[in-house]
Amino acid sequence: MKRNILITGGAGFIGSHVVRLFVNNYPQYNIINLDKLTYAGNLANLADVQNAPNYTFVRADICDYDTILGLLKQFNIDGIIHLAAESHVDRSIRDPFAFARTNVMGTLSLLQAARIYWESLPERYDGKRFYHISTDEVYGALEFDGSMFTEHTRYNPHSPYSASKASSDHFVRAYHDTYGMPTIVTNCSNNYGAYQFPEKLIPLFINNIRHRKPLPVYGKGENVRDWLYVEDHARAIDTIFHQGRIAETYNIGGFNEWRNIDLIKVLIETVDRHLGNPEGYSLDLITYVTDRLGHDLRYAIDSTKLKNELGWQPSLQFEEGIDCTVAWYLNNQEWMDNVTSGDYMRYYDEMYKNR
Ligand code: NAD
Ligand code: DAU
Repeated sequence: MKRNILITGGAGFIGSHVVRLFVNNYPQYNIINLDKLTYAGNLANLADVQNAPNYTFVRADICDYDTILGLLKQFNIDGIIHLAAESHVDRSIRDPFAFARTNVMGTLSLLQAARIYWESLPERYDGKRFYHISTDEVYGALEFDGSMFTEHTRYNPHSPYSASKASSDHFVRAYHDTYGMPTIVTNCSNNYGAYQFPEKLIPLFINNIRHRKPLPVYGKGENVRDWLYVEDHARAIDTIFHQGRIAETYNIGGFNEWRNIDLIKVLIETVDRHLGNPEGYSLDLITYVTDRLGHDLRYAIDSTKLKNELGWQPSLQFEEGIDCTVAWYLNNQEWMDNVTSGDYMRYYDEMYKNR
């Protein structure tokens, strides 16, 4: 079956893995990657598929309603996988407005454009799908008591980032309940893997260990996160986009909880081993710093529903995933240097200056 699918935020970390998977696995689909190319968007993440005949990149802002509506019509879009967002909690604490703008108003603009376009067609919502990618952070924080977030956990966001994602989730569900739009929402735990912007814990720390820079551990390093390999998330998105039930929510997680300080020690051990350093060589880089404001203590996601209904489960053991990830960043130092120097942004700004 032919489909025209719009993926937003496809030049970012998770989005680039989703675009790659869809372009490679579905040659019969047209994949349109719409991305504003903020600091987090980098087309180098997609160099291997940029010339594929079923792939088109469009630089646009999801908040620009008229442009989005025009693109939906131009490409006859029948499926939307929405990942574009401001995604970093620390940035949301410094600049909450940017998060309300993109995550709330941008999602609303995309929903409204999809509604106006799809309702103008004779078949209306038949065969259409609006799939919104969200986070486990909307559920709030857990104690160290073994409980987990399920699809029925009440929303209780604490950071401006999670509050903006929660708001966008509510809008998506409202478009189903009010207009009958075929929507799906998924809430995923922390992803790790190649092409993640080095402001997030794992790529930042790998790069700092390599350059013998301090590793800033927030608070006592006791906060717990559940980690999922990004390619497993992309595979879940593929499964849910094709087989998920309309108006449902699915949690996606790794059943793989780590205290930050324990994860950091695994990272140090792995990077040192890859670099040929003696065991324990980089432990002295650990530097405890002031805690993140409102730092959520623990996230743990129960993805049993997804396993039982659609048969998805994580494919990779964490030790193997971390080993591949460390190897990827160490072998792709040019990618890292382009990102940390900001060169990748100057290149795209120049390229798009006259368009
Ligand atoms: P990212 O920051 O790496 O990428 C975001 C992408 O969105 C970038 O390419 C950026 O240029 C683009 N973008 C930002 N604002 C835009 C706008 N106004 N218009 C168009 N494009 C815009 O993010 P990520 O980590 O890949 O996360 C992707 C999605 O998955 C987000 O919605 C995030 O909330 C969600 N999520 C992330 C994680 C995680 O661990 N990273 C976990 C669960 C859910
Ligand atoms: O849970 C899903 C979320 O995971 C996604 O929705 C977010 O987009 C994604 O950024 C991520 O959020 P976190 O805040 O959990 O990720 P981050 O990598 O920023 O931090 C992971 C943990 O490590 C967190 O407890 C804070 C801590 N940390 C982070 C950084 C960057 C440090 O101790 N030091 C650091 O320098």
